[in-house]
Formats: sequence, structure tokens, C-alpha cells
Amino acid sequence: MTRTTLTTTQSGLDHRLVPMRLWRKAKQLGTWDPADIDFSADASDFRQLSDPEQDLLLRLTAQFQAGEESVAYDLLPLLRVAAREGRIEEEMFLTAYLWEEAKHVEGFDRFLRSGIEVSGDLESYFTNAYRRLFLTELPESLNRLDDDASPEAVADAAVTYQMIVEGVLAETGYEAYYSVLEAHDILPGMQQFIRNVQRDEARHVAYGVYLLSRLVAEHGEPIWTVIEDRMNELIRLAIEHIQATLAPYDPIPFGLTADQFVEHGMSQFQKRIQRIERARTQSLEDVLTGGGNGGGRRPSGTAPVSLPSS
Ligand SMILES: [Fe+2]
Ligand SMILES: [Fe+2]
Repeated sequence: MTRTTLTTTQSGLDHRLVPMRLWRKAKQLGTWDPADIDFSADASDFRQLSDPEQDLLLRLTAQFQAGEESVAYDLLPLLRVAAREGRIEEEMFLTAYLWEEAKHVEGFDRFLRSGIEVSGDLESYFTNAYRRLFLTELPESLNRLDDDASPEAVADAAVTYQMIVEGVLAETGYEAYYSVLEAHDILPGMQQFIRNVQRDEARHVAYGVYLLSRLVAEHGEPIWTVIEDRMNELIRLAIEHIQATLAPYDPIPFGLTADQFVEHGMSQFQKRIQRIERARTQSLEDVLTGGGNGGGRRPSGTAPVSLPSS
């Protein structure tokens, strides 16, 4: 394929675009180094926990580590779509995005291998729903983009990656870490690491909301239907995974309950789907720039697509 135009030579970068704002945030906030985090106090805290407490933290961390590795492997097809479509601003942000996933892989690996010094295979901690989501749905929906970059295929991939994996599962995972680590004042290195990861991930989910909103504004109701169907298909797996993760424990360590995480996951899911739904009545220009505050085309009581505060 011959490239016929270069944005930079035709009109310059479009700094009004949501992905350009995310790129600027990534340069400001995404440059922390996982190698700077001190996990030494975490190791002694971890050794003092009971066996079920250690097991639950290991389970959560093993799922996170493999999840970060999966998203690092599977982002490239989406980046290639942005490049092929000449969306340089999205490609710039996605480049930072992929680098951030690499940092997350490194941080979890450091915590496990040199922090609390776990060795061996942690795959036994994966639930069946987890395997389906991370080993099948995520790679298949993303790798499909190399052959089929239709709006439907991109919507399917973004729902899987940013809405379900990052927007529901990772968000529920942070909630679990905070409920354990902050509430019990343990593993200070991990607390700091998770806060940094969550701040990066807020930009990733914001990009997913932007991308799906753009597709809805560009292609209308057929794409909205694809998004809704895929969301409803995968949220069931996500909830099944959350419940199966805590099912082996009776009682669940640290006073946790499965319901609190299912509720948290569902509320994140509802929030995201409502934000994307706004694009059905927004202009494309408003979606692209995250603007339209005073516009009359949006349903009452809703706000425009906006960046996370962090
Ligand atoms: Fe990540
Ligand atoms: Fe991410």
C-alpha cells in the first residue's frame, strides 16, 4: 500500500482530539518507573499473613500479571488499524499505551519474583471464565483486526479490551487490592504500584470510550447494537470470573465478599455503557474533541465524553 498523505505535512496534528489530550497526559503522568518501587517491606508483610490470605493475594496478583501480559501482546493490531487509517494522533497515544502495559508487566513480575519471591507456575489461579476471556476472546477479537478492520470488528475488539478487560476486570482488581492492602495497611510498595497502574489504566479506558463513541457517531445504530451485544455477552463471563475467584474460600480472607466486587464491576460497566450511549445523539465533532457542553443534541442529565481527572 502506498501512503498518499501525511497529516503532519498537510494540516499538522489536531491538538483538539481526545487522543491528543490523552497523549499529553501520558507524557506527564505515565513516565514513572516500576523499577523505582521498593517492595522490601511487602515481602515481610506478606510472610506474616495467614495461608488463605497469602493464597488470595497470590491469586489476585497472578491474574493481574497474566492479564497485563495478555493486553501487552494483544494491543498491536489496534495500533496498526490507527496507523493504516492515518489517525496519527491515536497512534501516538497508543504507542504510550503499549509502553505503559509493558511497565505494568514489569512491575507485577518484580513484585512476584523479587518482592515476595514466588516461584513456579501460577496458572492454577486462573478460572475457566478467565481463560476464555484472556486466552480466547481477547486475542481473537484483536488479532481479527489484521484481516478485518471493519467498524464492527474494531467495536468488538474495543469492548473486549477496554470495556471488559480493563474497564471491569482490572477495575474490580484495584478495588480488591485497596480493600485488602489499604484497609489493613500492608504491602506499601504494592499500594504505590497499583495506584500508578490505575492512573495509567484510566487513560486506556478513556481511549476505549472515545474510540467506541467515535464509531457510534460515525456509523450510527448498527455499531451501537454490536457494542451492546458484545458488552452483554462478555459481562456475564466477567461476573462468572469474579465469583469463581472467591469461591474457593470459606470464609473469604480479609472480610471480603463476592457481592461487593460484582456490584463494583457492574457499576463500572453501567457507567461506561452510558457514556458510550451518549454518542448516539452527539455530533461527531463533539465526540472527537470531547466537547459539546452546551449542545442541545445530548439527552438531558448527561455529560460529554471527558477525560479522567487523574
Ligand atoms: Fe495495564
Ligand atoms: Fe491498560
